[in-house]
Amino acid sequence: MTQKVAVLGTGKIGEALLSGMLRGGWPPADLLVTARRAERAEELRSRHGVVPVTNAEAAKTADTLILTVKPQDMGALLEELAPHVPAGRLVISGAAGITTAFVEDRLTAGVPVVRVMTNTPALVDEAMSVISAGSHAGEADLAHTEEIFGSVGKTLRVPESQQDACTALSGSGPAYFFYLVEAMTDAGILLGLPRDKAHDLIVQSAIGAATMLRDSGEHPVKLRENVTSPAGTTINAIRELENHGVRAALIAALEAARDRSRQLASGTKD
Ligand SMILES: NC(=O)c1ccc[n+]([C@@H]2O[C@H](COP(=O)([O-])OP(=O)(O)OC[C@H]3O[C@@H](n4cnc5c(N)ncnc54)[C@H](OP(=O)(O)O)[C@@H]3O)[C@@H](O)[C@H]2O)c1
Repeated sequence: MTQKVAVLGTGKIGEALLSGMLRGGWPPADLLVTARRAERAEELRSRHGVVPVTNAEAAKTADTLILTVKPQDMGALLEELAPHVPAGRLVISGAAGITTAFVEDRLTAGVPVVRVMTNTPALVDEAMSVISAGSHAGEADLAHTEEIFGSVGKTLRVPESQQDACTALSGSGPAYFFYLVEAMTDAGILLGLPRDKAHDLIVQSAIGAATMLRDSGEHPVKLRENVTSPAGTTINAIRELENHGVRAALIAALEAARDRSRQLASGTKD
């Protein structure tokens, strides 16, 4: 049985997912995309060889609808889709803070809804996608969602009550690492290194550290201790990080991101 998948509101995340599915061997004929602007639709057609359709056509034709519009555009999109989504379509929502109940309430009763929070490393097949079932989604719906998002990286199932926390950790997560690299590159410049060399040193150190974290099976504390010799250079740096409250700042930052995700979920947009 062919399974047609439509990506509705194909922006940055939608296109990353689409390109990952194509790289993973998904037949282009089984992929539909929608866009708000004609020039964006044309861009998707020329870049990926997929045929753009309207939201209503996608809802009528595709077995699975993946909604990747911004949270503030979700209400209008669901209103447009509602008359065209028959029971039995799987609807996957990828918008930060939008609950499965929000989507379920606006569609035909009983439509299975799955909520996913992915992240931008989907562009390089290293996404972390966190998946939760709505009240009508079953095992087959979750497995199909894992198959789709598995084409751009890892997937993890969590109860929906943990989605706001996951948004703070992995949804926004790449930004924290980019910020850290930016700050460390500035430090390299302060220490007299040219920007490009400082950038290369930090990025390769980040790749090395991330690979060790993923592959060594060691706890991060152990990995850090291995480079923290008595009276050495690293412990002097760590003391400054502690003096400046970097650990507490990270905890507060992620708490703020979690709170913002909750606000979006409750409809408070400002
Ligand atoms: N970016 C991230 O790091 C990230 C990470 C995890 C999850 N997300 C989630 O992914 C979603 C998309 O984020 P994004 O960064 O990919 O945003 P984006 O680039 O703005 O993509 C959204 C796209 O949807 C289009 N759109 C809006 N309403 C539409 C409608 N009614 N019909 C068809 N297309 C419509 C927009 O068109 P226009 O171009 O005309 O505006 C835009 O191209 C968000 O809900 C966000 O919470 C994002």
